[in-house]
Amino acid sequence: MEKNDEFRAIGPCTYLCPIPAVMLGCADPENGLKPNLITVAWTGIVCSKPPMLSVSLRKSRYSYDIIRRTGEFTLNLISQELCRATDFCGVKSGWDMDKFEALGLTAVAAPPLTVAPALGEAPAYLSCKVKSVTELGSHDLFLAEILEVHVADRFFRSDGSIDEPKMKLVGYVHGTYYALSDALGFFGYSVASPEAQRRRENK
Ligand SMILES: Cc1cc2nc3c(=O)[nH]c(=O)nc-3n(C[C@H](O)[C@H](O)[C@H](O)COP(=O)(O)O)c2cc1C
Repeated sequence: MEKNDEFRAIGPCTYLCPIPAVMLGCADPENGLKPNLITVAWTGIVCSKPPMLSVSLRKSRYSYDIIRRTGEFTLNLISQELCRATDFCGVKSGWDMDKFEALGLTAVAAPPLTVAPALGEAPAYLSCKVKSVTELGSHDLFLAEILEVHVADRFFRSDGSIDEPKMKLVGYVHGTYYALSDALGFFGYSVASPEAQRRRENK
């Protein structure tokens, strides 16, 4: 492993890589529950029990008021197939168009939520209920509880495990979308016994 001779400061900025880029689904109660998708990268898991995540949004987003009013949203994982749509939903606003219609995508019910839709084409989605909103500066931080997670049937193996490689998920690094490549190890592999390694590899 090569040790770097020097590091160069690039200033205090949001240089955390890789991060997810996902599509958040919500529905506008002021507009006949028109469904909307907004791409978010400022998101992450913040607690395991209860399962919670954060999303940070600018107040100017069409989705912002919707989520404040309805208190619910879905986060939809992104496959390579959905990457172009993800970018589109990150540059076009629900103020100007119906993004589901423009992209030929499907809004589906996201139980136990009653208002926010999920993206029917997503490999999986998380149904979330807002717990708090905090002003940070450019963005407001929404903390939300994950009430349920749904994974598309076709990604289950016969033994009931989930085939994430088949999902062809996308990562986001400093403004660029990337296909995820090879698995390098599993949680705890650095200390796992040879027997545990074998069991896992045979799965
Ligand atoms: C990859 C990517 C990530 C983004 N992440 C965020 C984010 O975390 N928070 C945010 O407020 N806007 C984010 N945006 C910008 C919004 O997705 C964009 O302004 C969108 O058009 C807003 O949609 P809306 O007006 O329909 O709500 C992101 C855009 C892209 C392309």
